[in-house]
Amino acid sequence: MQKRPFLDLVLLVLLLVELASFFVSSRVHEVLGVAFVVLVFVHLWWNAGFFRALGRGRYPWRRLLGTVVALAFLIDMAVIAVSGVATSHFLFPSVHLPRGVNWRSLHLGAAATAAFLLFLHGTLVGGRYVKGWKLRTAAALVLVLAIGGVFGLPYLDRWQREVHVNRPMAIAGEKAALPGRTVVVYFSRAHNTDFPDDVDAVSGASLMWDRSRLPKGPGWKQVRTSVDLVGNAELLADMAADATDAERIFLQTMQKYPTSYPETTEIAKEEFASATFPALQPLRADEEAALQSADNIILVTPLWWGTLPRTVEGFVRSHAHDFSGKRIFPIITHGGTGAGESANVLRDAAPDADLAPVLDVYSSDVPGARGQVAAYLKANSEKQ
Ligand SMILES: Cc1cc2nc3c(=O)[nH]c(=O)nc-3n(C[C@H](O)[C@H](O)[C@H](O)COP(=O)(O)O)c2cc1C
Repeated sequence: MQKRPFLDLVLLVLLLVELASFFVSSRVHEVLGVAFVVLVFVHLWWNAGFFRALGRGRYPWRRLLGTVVALAFLIDMAVIAVSGVATSHFLFPSVHLPRGVNWRSLHLGAAATAAFLLFLHGTLVGGRYVKGWKLRTAAALVLVLAIGGVFGLPYLDRWQREVHVNRPMAIAGEKAALPGRTVVVYFSRAHNTDFPDDVDAVSGASLMWDRSRLPKGPGWKQVRTSVDLVGNAELLADMAADATDAERIFLQTMQKYPTSYPETTEIAKEEFASATFPALQPLRADEEAALQSADNIILVTPLWWGTLPRTVEGFVRSHAHDFSGKRIFPIITHGGTGAGESANVLRDAAPDADLAPVLDVYSSDVPGARGQVAAYLKANSEKQ
């Protein structure tokens, strides 16, 4: 095979593998992403004639369309590369791009756009390599893979993939000593939900299995129960508590949420619509004392409907005096939309608190977020 079609084939395969990023580790995704960008530069170098010819000669519709698609593809690749660097944890952890941009959504949106631009670009220039029915078959295949990559893989990732984590290993890491006393307050869907004995059907979405609690080898699935589940905010709370040697306070609702994720979202929607604060189980005396005497409160919560869950907002409002004058570190885990309105709601609920910038962690990144949590706490330990 000649070198140009070979490179194009490698780029096609790499892009599809990168679209299926949910099934490879973040580290592999980042390394392949860098390799992809390097190969795109080689591809551009080998096709430099395209740029030299820009603006020369006539532009019948096919050439015009091909040029627009190729340039759009190039811009999209640049967005993918920059947003990829902004969201990187392994290769570029110290590169800080402007806050306030939802880099993850930008990355995902650009990746989805790339899949369709790839289809158009491939169909328009693929005629160089294959013709007739072969070109049509290849284009149809790429279209199916692109649609599958954009819609199918995120669906499978969210609803079908079981996430396993070794809890003690995931939460151990570098310390981040904060001045004074620290307490971690957290809320999570896990353990505030009424799971049946057979919890097989509920894995996915925001739940992980703590494999450190279960026997190795076949048969472990038969012995697992809802106690072995870990929530995203719960694991982040463990990480923050380990980093700061702090106590954890778990916010437990009086009434459990249903097993079904969609039903839970509906109930949460009603909580917002009715502007009610769900009742919480009272804190134990030692928890109340830890909260009162704390100088720093690390507040870990999922994002619900673009903001703080009503449970968490209600807790902060009813304990505003305990938050007053203290340094608050909000750590928000979400399914892709960033921290939303959380900081504004917190500022309103505890106006006298000293609010640190929010750390938002995408749900799939939670198991590997220990370093990020410590770095965030260290960087914000003092008011800037
Ligand atoms: C009721 C409800 C509403 C949610 N709303 C959002 C949302 O608006 N944006 C988002 O990105 N994720 C949303 N999510 C996803 C969670 O924020 C995400 O899965 C989080 O990591 C769950 O943490 P947990 O396992 O500790 O509950 C929602 C989840 C639930 C249950």
